[in-house]
Amino acid sequence: MDYQEHFRNELDRLRAAGDYRVFADLERHTGDYPHALNRPDPGNEDAVRPVTVWCSNDYLGMSQHPDVIAAMAEAARELGAGAGGTRNISGTNHRHVMLERELASLHGKDSSLLFTSGYVANLTALATLAERLPNCIVLSDSENHNSMIAGIRYSRADKKIFRHNDPADLDRILGDLDPERAKLVAFESVYSMDGDIAPIGEIVDVCERHGALSYIDEVHAVGLYGEQGGGVAERDGLAHRIDVIQGTLAKGFGVVGGYIAASDALVDFVRSFGQAFIFTTSLPPAVAAAALASVRHVRATNDLRLRHQERAATVKRRLRDAGLPVMPSESHIVPVLVGDAKLCREASDLLMEDHGIYVQPINYPTVARGTERLRITPTPHHDDAAIDNLVAALQAVWKNLGLKAAA
Ligand SMILES: Cc1ncc(COP(=O)(O)O)c(C=O)c1O
Repeated sequence: MDYQEHFRNELDRLRAAGDYRVFADLERHTGDYPHALNRPDPGNEDAVRPVTVWCSNDYLGMSQHPDVIAAMAEAARELGAGAGGTRNISGTNHRHVMLERELASLHGKDSSLLFTSGYVANLTALATLAERLPNCIVLSDSENHNSMIAGIRYSRADKKIFRHNDPADLDRILGDLDPERAKLVAFESVYSMDGDIAPIGEIVDVCERHGALSYIDEVHAVGLYGEQGGGVAERDGLAHRIDVIQGTLAKGFGVVGGYIAASDALVDFVRSFGQAFIFTTSLPPAVAAAALASVRHVRATNDLRLRHQERAATVKRRLRDAGLPVMPSESHIVPVLVGDAKLCREASDLLMEDHGIYVQPINYPTVARGTERLRITPTPHHDDAAIDNLVAALQAVWKNLGLKAAA
């Protein structure tokens, strides 16, 4: 086989479909959020241009918070750059332990467990639970993130998909199963591409009725919802009824890493049997120190959450008033429908080249074909002038490309 030719052909196919991913080369400078420098032509300093970033998951700008940077720098100087091993073999640092305590307390759980990313947290926790609970069947929301799907697949447990955000469908499927069987229900709180929010209370009612373990991914909600940033489950007073809360340290908390929070026994079980937890080097202590500073700050600063929600609501209203096709979203995520892969890429290119605005196109397979979109994520740092520029730029691009306006 000509391996290289195969690789090239597959990439050409992606390009022809408009789904080839082009990374924007960015430098996000401390203190200048949400502005950044974009280098469209590496090595050519004349091509460097300033842009306003409108698609970051650094939802609160915490990656640049002075306390977070200071904690990271200080810990790196004091404790070194790397953890030095897996958690079991010399790689547990006191910063990891403190961060796990903080996260357990944030979610009102006995314990928490850190992973190198939110992806690895889902992969490991779901794989371990579903594989090691005897004869377990997993019920998975049809829109679950790739990391959850990967964990469920890896477990090789039986799986059934329930209709997105549909507790009645979940109830029907669970009702047909042996009541004695181990059941694990996996779903998200905020779905990151549509911005819709799960009916958590109703899903948990169904889980309790059928004796199923509940597992919620709050990756796009931790830091952002609830009085202390414990996520939508905290906001809705439901955290104590959910068995596993999974989150990330990379988005609302602005650093990197993932975790689960749950009962002592469940966390110890994943700690003791989870392969992608056991067999990998732990997070650098400086990362744990930065995340700890971030979680503490975000917990104590509800104003940041209020401002975040206000900015998102303002952007949605302004875009709708301008006749742009904002997709319905109950959360801080503002998806604007383009509906075609190539046009979505072109719209993104024009925003960057003509208006200094960076919004990455979201195409298949991240979203279904025909629903390609620009996914806009306002932060507390986007001021009114930035919003004015965004609205004007999108209007100009929509006109230029003849894109569909709001229905
Ligand atoms: C719903 C969901 N879960 C998990 C992850 C993975 O989290 P992380 O970026 O921390 O690996 C993502 C990433 O974007 C996500 O959208």
